[in-house]
Amino acid sequence: MYLTDLEKVMDIEPIAFGTSHWSYDSFVNELNNPFANYFSACLENEQNFIVGYSGYWLFQEEAHITTLATHPKMRRQGIGEKLLINDILTAKELGANWLTLEVRVSNTAAQELYKRYGFKNIGMRKRYYQDNNEDAIILWTDNINNDDYMHFINEKYEKSGLKLDIERIK
Ligand SMILES: CC(C)(COP(=O)(O)OP(=O)(O)OC[C@H]1O[C@@H](n2cnc3c(N)ncnc32)[C@H](O)[C@@H]1OP(=O)(O)O)[C@@H](O)C(=O)NCCC(=O)NCCS
Repeated sequence: MYLTDLEKVMDIEPIAFGTSHWSYDSFVNELNNPFANYFSACLENEQNFIVGYSGYWLFQEEAHITTLATHPKMRRQGIGEKLLINDILTAKELGANWLTLEVRVSNTAAQELYKRYGFKNIGMRKRYYQDNNEDAIILWTDNINNDDYMHFINEKYEKSGLKLDIERIK
């Protein structure tokens, strides 16, 4: 994600996250955060059309996914999945062993997606979301560097058509 993406990102953000959405300035701060990595997804022939984004903070062996969103008109086309595969593989390349995140109890769509990628419910943060006091479910992966998981994720990656440019990420 580049600063120049933010106008388009902000077209999606309030629709995706409602009253609790991040501001333009929060994204600017995140892009300047040395512990953070953010990615925008765009259509192959329309790099100006941002269709989703995601990112995480990386603290040693743990990658904490802070956001993931797909343009409301582009959902159920595998974009969220591609963004998640990208998060998992780039985090692995940067040294992560585990990924974690919080998700609203009511957000069953996102929970389905994360479950598919091996995220497991390990607990709850009560009244975590300040806008409506909703609880958060805490999700964690097993060690992503284990052979079975890597086999699974590499297959997903190959089918996804993604191309990671790890050198640029580092
Ligand atoms: C969650 C979100 C990112 C999913 O994006 P997407 O691009 O539509 O996801 P994909 O098309 O890659 O879906 C992959 C899988 O996730 C699950 N999934 C996605 N949306 C779902 C829904 N509305 N209901 C049930 N399962 C859903 C399904 O298993 C789906 O596979 P399938 O389409 O083959 O059944 C999107 O709904 C979104 O932006 N939501 C608002 C922001 C948000 O809640 N972010 C997560 C914060 S933790």
